[in-house]
Amino acid sequence: MNWIADRTKTFDSSGIRKVFELAGQLSDPINLSIGQPDFDVPQRVKQACIDAIQAGRNGYALSQGMPVLRDELQRSVDSQYGHADRKLFVSSGTSGGLVLTLWSLVNPGDEVIIFDPFFVMYEALTRLIGGVPVLLNTYPDFHIDVNRVADAITPRTKMILFNSPANPTGVTATEQEIRDLATLAAEREVVLVSDEIYRQFCYDEPFVSAARFNEQAIVIDGFSKSHAMTGWRVGIVHGPAEIIDTMVKLQQFTFVCAPQPAQWASATALEVDIDEHIDAYRNKRDMIVAGLQDHYDLTRPGGAFYLFPEAPGGNGTRFAKRAVEENLLVIPGGVFSHQDTHFRISYAASDEKIQQGIEVLRKLSG
Ligand SMILES: Cc1ncc(COP(=O)(O)O)c(C=O)c1O
Repeated sequence: MNWIADRTKTFDSSGIRKVFELAGQLSDPINLSIGQPDFDVPQRVKQACIDAIQAGRNGYALSQGMPVLRDELQRSVDSQYGHADRKLFVSSGTSGGLVLTLWSLVNPGDEVIIFDPFFVMYEALTRLIGGVPVLLNTYPDFHIDVNRVADAITPRTKMILFNSPANPTGVTATEQEIRDLATLAAEREVVLVSDEIYRQFCYDEPFVSAARFNEQAIVIDGFSKSHAMTGWRVGIVHGPAEIIDTMVKLQQFTFVCAPQPAQWASATALEVDIDEHIDAYRNKRDMIVAGLQDHYDLTRPGGAFYLFPEAPGGNGTRFAKRAVEENLLVIPGGVFSHQDTHFRISYAASDEKIQQGIEVLRKLSG
């Protein structure tokens, strides 16, 4: 008997699972593998969620999102971009937004351009819905060569999936790259999806959205990283109204809605200043880059909370295993890429753990 649907076999998640299994074996690891902030949800946001629950705001939310949150976000998007047709809805996490975006737009056989290395979900999700991932290698500096993107576009290309600041490299695209990519997508009538979940984590330059240069761009964002709300599942998607209405229709029959109490709390999160955390993360970035730059081949990241150095010996999996023997958890680059030559460090950890990690990594570099 083989009941499992074929589509589930188009990808596997064994790479990341192995890291979690290894993590489970260590009692107090130096854990630099986690993709979520090490600070807590701001107190005001927690209280707003408790208040919403106590006030009985526990039922289904509107599919497009509760007005208290959605209307405020729509106002902010309207004032930032001034696009007449730009509409916003609240998704079940950024991941839910990604699922609905691909589902709404990608037909079986359509090509989706993805920059390698990439956030794990991009390739898997594309395959799951029958799309064809077209990977563009961005090693060694992880910047985008727009001419290569232009060459990769075929009559079957439906979408470009773009993410800056990026997971797993921490690299932020320059304004010129973003402008060129956005213009190219508009000229060639390809959907540009901009995953902006690390928007607030920009340390050197102000954040630039691709939607500034492309009225049709679809922007995906959320509260998971900015307010450490990964478990609360509140995301945002905005783009052309007809596409957003399609996603809301699909949300009705799938995720239904983002959790209602978390949406009330997210409305409060919009008023909470997280600059103090961003400053702390800039210091962490500086600390880890200063600690490793003479020992590893690495690109200085401008955002998110990751670093993606080359593995000594050129094998990310072998290196991550050696690190485990020293009680350190990092993720092999092959989890995020078709090549396994690098490894991902997350510095979303205490300064003390980062220092310990630097010491181990220096020892392993020689
Ligand atoms: C680039 C990127 N997009 C989306 C997500 C998913 O975020 P969420 O928790 O809001 O689903 C992540 C989480 O790691 C990410 O790194």
